[in-house]
Amino acid sequence: MISNLFFGFIILFVTNLLTIQQSAGQLTSTKCIPTTSCFPTSWNSSGYVVASGGYYGGLAVDDDFNVYVADGNPRRLQKWAPCAVQPVNMLEGQFSHNPLFFHSPSRSLYYIDTILGNPTVYKLLPGQTVPVKVAFGNGVGNGLNQLQRNCRGLYVNEVGDVYVLDASNQRVLKWMVNATSGVLIADAVNNVVYVADTGNHRIQKYISGSVNGITVISGPYRTISPTVFREIYYPQAVFVDRTGNILVGDWARITKWISNGSTGSFTGSLIADGIQGFNANATRMDTPSAFAFDRTGNLYAVDWSNQRVLKFNVMSQQCTT
Ligand SMILES: *[C@@H]1O[C@H](CO)[C@@H](O)[C@H](O)[C@H]1NC(C)=O
Ligand SMILES: *[C@@H]1O[C@H](CO)[C@@H](O)[C@H](O)[C@H]1NC(C)=O
Ligand SMILES: *[C@@H]1O[C@H](CO)[C@@H](O)[C@H](O)[C@H]1NC(C)=O
Ligand SMILES: *[C@@H]1O[C@H](CO)[C@@H](O)[C@H](O)[C@H]1NC(C)=O
Repeated sequence: MISNLFFGFIILFVTNLLTIQQSAGQLTSTKCIPTTSCFPTSWNSSGYVVASGGYYGGLAVDDDFNVYVADGNPRRLQKWAPCAVQPVNMLEGQFSHNPLFFHSPSRSLYYIDTILGNPTVYKLLPGQTVPVKVAFGNGVGNGLNQLQRNCRGLYVNEVGDVYVLDASNQRVLKWMVNATSGVLIADAVNNVVYVADTGNHRIQKYISGSVNGITVISGPYRTISPTVFREIYYPQAVFVDRTGNILVGDWARITKWISNGSTGSFTGSLIADGIQGFNANATRMDTPSAFAFDRTGNLYAVDWSNQRVLKFNVMSQQCTT
């Protein structure tokens, strides 16, 4: 089932182009300047559980394969080390279903604290337990230096500029490093932002300088074909790789959409299939609501209704030199 929480909201955006560096074993001779960059092209359709037992909103994976989840009840940040059967609880009392983002260049975990009536973006530097304020923190509102409590997307670019999907205000704001206010993303330069517009069953693309989104994938789907997908249904999570292919988490599926360069249309294929309703079978998720990737390209998805995180191992990748 899809929680009412998600109806009609723009849920999540990710603007970056996924770049996966070589795995540690291959890096010995090119540790500082990798000559090859690889990105995953397919994942095992069977996932397995790497975190469970919580009402997970935000999801992030650090460069050491630790999985972080924002647990909504009780409110806390959890860190699941690889193969751990129990998490480490952190920052108890300060979390809701907030998005998380692991920023590899600074090895910091970014999060949004909305609980205290003052939505603020913080970061946790490596090894630290005391967060540092990064952006916003001027109370609840619709000013350019304010957010509403319902923040549904968080992204941090290479240099540290922060993007927040302020869902109740139906906008995306960018807060540049050391700024005192955000800018509407449509006004920013050199940015392309993808938004899952859940209630309208579509993925919107906002190109810099444009105030209007372009629909790149639409729905709702009426027929379900096992191999070819043309439409989506209540999308909640979206991720775009550096070739422009789009991953979408919708009703109970993860699908991948490959661009037809000439027509601008996308053709979908199934990465992982789910089933509506709680079940204990890890291959069948219900409502994938957030994505994250580790540095080797394995895909992690919050399986919202089943209160867990599933991991889908990368099966093939494409490399460029
Ligand atoms: C896919 O994942 C399943 C479950 O973890 C595993 O049993 C299977 O061997 C994997 N398939 C491949 C081709 O790696
Ligand atoms: C941001 O402020 C810090 C501290 O004043 C400074 O060291 C840094 O260079 C500034 N960064 C940018 C991008 O302005
Ligand atoms: C793009 O669409 C056109 C028209 O349907 C088709 O002829 C072409 O093969 C497609 N190209 C790709 C890369 O899918
Ligand atoms: C899990 O789902 C798969 C795919 O539909 C099915 O083949 C398998 O039997 C299920 N396993 C269990 C334990 O229900």
